[in-house]
Amino acid sequence: MQNKLKELQTTALASISQTDSIKSLEELRIKYLGKKGELTAALSGLGNLSSTERPLIGKIGNEVKSAITAALDKRLAALENAELQKKLSADVIDITLPGRRIPAGRTHILTTVENEVRRIFSELGYTIAEGPEIEDDFHNFEALNMPENHPARDMQDSFYLDDGRLLRTHTSPVQVRVLEKGVLPVKVIVPGRVYRCDADVTHSPVFHQVEGLVVGEDVTFGDLKGTLEFFIKKMFGAERRVRFRNSFFPFTEPSAEVDVECFVCGGEGCPLCKSTGWIEILGSGSVDPAVFEAVRIDPEKYTGFAFGLGIERIAMLKYGVKDIRLFYASDLRFLRQF
Ligand code: DAH
Repeated sequence: MQNKLKELQTTALASISQTDSIKSLEELRIKYLGKKGELTAALSGLGNLSSTERPLIGKIGNEVKSAITAALDKRLAALENAELQKKLSADVIDITLPGRRIPAGRTHILTTVENEVRRIFSELGYTIAEGPEIEDDFHNFEALNMPENHPARDMQDSFYLDDGRLLRTHTSPVQVRVLEKGVLPVKVIVPGRVYRCDADVTHSPVFHQVEGLVVGEDVTFGDLKGTLEFFIKKMFGAERRVRFRNSFFPFTEPSAEVDVECFVCGGEGCPLCKSTGWIEILGSGSVDPAVFEAVRIDPEKYTGFAFGLGIERIAMLKYGVKDIRLFYASDLRFLRQF
C-alpha cells in the first residue's frame, strides 16, 4: 500500500508538471484528490490494516495529498501567470506609433510680412490706425494734393462706385482721416487693403500697403531717414546699405524713394535689381503743407513725414516670388514653403 501511494504521487506530480491548461489541471485535481479520486481509492483499504500500520499509512497518505495539492497550486499559479502575460502582450498599446496627423493651418506669407512690419514699428512706439476701404474723392485724392485732373483719378486706374466714391487706391487717405481728428502729435502706421485696376505678374487688383505718418512740432526729414533706415535694416538685415533717392509724390515735399542694397547680388548688379545694385522698397517724404491746409492744421507750427510700402512687393523681393498671383491662388504647395 505504501508503494502504491508513492507511485500515485510520482505519476500525479509528473502529469501535473506536464499539464499546460488550467482546465486540464482542474481535471487532474478531481482525478487524484476528488471524492472518487485515486487517492481515496488507494486509501480505501486503510480500515483493514493493523493498528500499528494504520497511522503510518495514514501519515503517508496525508503527505501524498499535500505534495499533490502543493504541485497543483504551484502549477495553477504558473499557468495563470502565463495566461496573464499572454493577454498583456496581445493587448499591448504601442505608444511609439506615430499619431494621426491633423493638418495645422499656418499664417499666410503676406500676413507674416505685415506682422513683421507692425512689430518693427511698434518697437518705435507707433500705434495702428485704420480707415475705410470705400473712400471718397476728398480723402483719396483731393486732400492729398491730387487735383481734379490728376492722372491717378482716371477711371482706368481706379475702381469707382456708381455714387462717385471709389475703392481706395492707397492707404494714404487714412493720413487725412487721422489728421482730421485734430489730435497731435501723431505717430501711426496704417496696414490695409488697397485696390487698383491693374493686373499682371507684379500687379494685383487688390493688394496690401502699410502707410506711416508722423506729425508733431519739430519732426524733421532727418527723423524720416533715421526711422526708415532702422526699419529697412530690421527687415532686410543690418548689413544692407540704404539709399534715399529724390522723387515726387503730390502729398510730400520733398519726397524720396528708398532703396535697399540688392539682397540677391549684394550690389554687384543682377536681374532682380536690373543691374543697378539697388531695389526700391518704399515711397516717403515730408508732409506737404497743402495736406496740412486741407485738414486745417497750421503748417507753420507742425511738420511731419509719411511713407508707404507694399506688402506684396516686399514679400516678392524677400522670398524671390516672381508672380504676385501666387499669393492669392491658395495653392498649398506654394504657401507651405514659408
Ligand atoms: N501712396 C503711395 C502709393 O500708393 C505710396 C506713398 C508714397 C505713400 C509716399 C506715402 C508717401 O505716404 O509719403 O504709391
